[in-house]
Amino acid sequence: MQKDIYTLGIESSCDETSVAVVKNGREILSNVINTQIAIHTLYGGVVPEIASRNHIENITPVTLEATKQANITLQDVDAICVTYGPGLVGALLVGLAYGKALSFALNKPLIGVNHIQGHIAANYLTYKELKPPFLCMMMSGGNTQIVYVKDYTNFEVLGKTRDDAIGEAFDKIARVIGLGYPGGPKVDNLAKNGENVIKLPKTHFDNLDFSFSGIKTAIINLHHKNPDIDKADLCKSFEAVCSEILIENIKQAIKQTGIKTVCLAGGVSANSYIRDAFLKLQNNGIKIYMPDLKLCTDNAAMIASAGYYNFIDGNISDLSLNAKPDLKLE
Ligand code: KG4
Repeated sequence: MQKDIYTLGIESSCDETSVAVVKNGREILSNVINTQIAIHTLYGGVVPEIASRNHIENITPVTLEATKQANITLQDVDAICVTYGPGLVGALLVGLAYGKALSFALNKPLIGVNHIQGHIAANYLTYKELKPPFLCMMMSGGNTQIVYVKDYTNFEVLGKTRDDAIGEAFDKIARVIGLGYPGGPKVDNLAKNGENVIKLPKTHFDNLDFSFSGIKTAIINLHHKNPDIDKADLCKSFEAVCSEILIENIKQAIKQTGIKTVCLAGGVSANSYIRDAFLKLQNNGIKIYMPDLKLCTDNAAMIASAGYYNFIDGNISDLSLNAKPDLKLE
């Protein structure tokens, strides 16, 4: 019988300090998340320097709580997996320095994890039977891309946003129409009361790329020109056009690759309208997977899961690993 492998995940790329313990890449033993939403709400968005300072304060108590909840000691862990990009550089450095210190002091392998790979791995924690290859619609605050997941550690980006990430557009619209921060969940809730879908302009490309900035501007202009326009309708219209674009592109990616398994990932995959729209795609052999809601947004369990597969592949980092704010998947 094979020995169980326990990975410790550390995530600090934005405004969540999170540490988790995962068994064999699939079973969450703990996933402690300290969110700074209340702090950044005061400023209407994430203030990078404040995020870094809070990570420094939180990282040790969050780590101790994660090992306590997993009923494990740090010595029992097989590898220390830490996000090293993409994200806010100061925020990343806190988790990375902490991970390196643990790796050195405990004499355990250090595994650098790409945050986007982590979001994709959230699906492995939700669906124990899920295996690559599949397509992943990755939608977060900093990235929007269609990823061909060829294997656990082998990725090809088939299409990506040419301007705003979809989450960034959600957050900007929420701020301009007065819903506040964090924008995505607020737009999601208000859109449920929307009754009319306003037709919005779409940009088409001859490949699988996306654009969200024109739609964002169209919504903002509608609001500015007619402040009485129903905000719920605006939110619903934005979600409707985004869903159309995402689905058009994923259908094209399915046609191009012949891969009919599609996973969602990233914070925006928590959006109820988008989740419903993707579920409607399930026919003709197309299967849709989406992470549990609590695993859509930033958390360390997804980093511990992705790190497990890097570890199995022998993809060990050394202590010179640096934070890479613009790290790409390929
Ligand atoms: O994946 P995530 O937690 O952080 C990044 O890696 O970027 O994604 C955060 C983004 C934010 O833009 C947030 O507004 C958006 O995900 N988001 C949502 C929802 N929940 C979070 N967007 C739309 N609907 C939601 N329910």
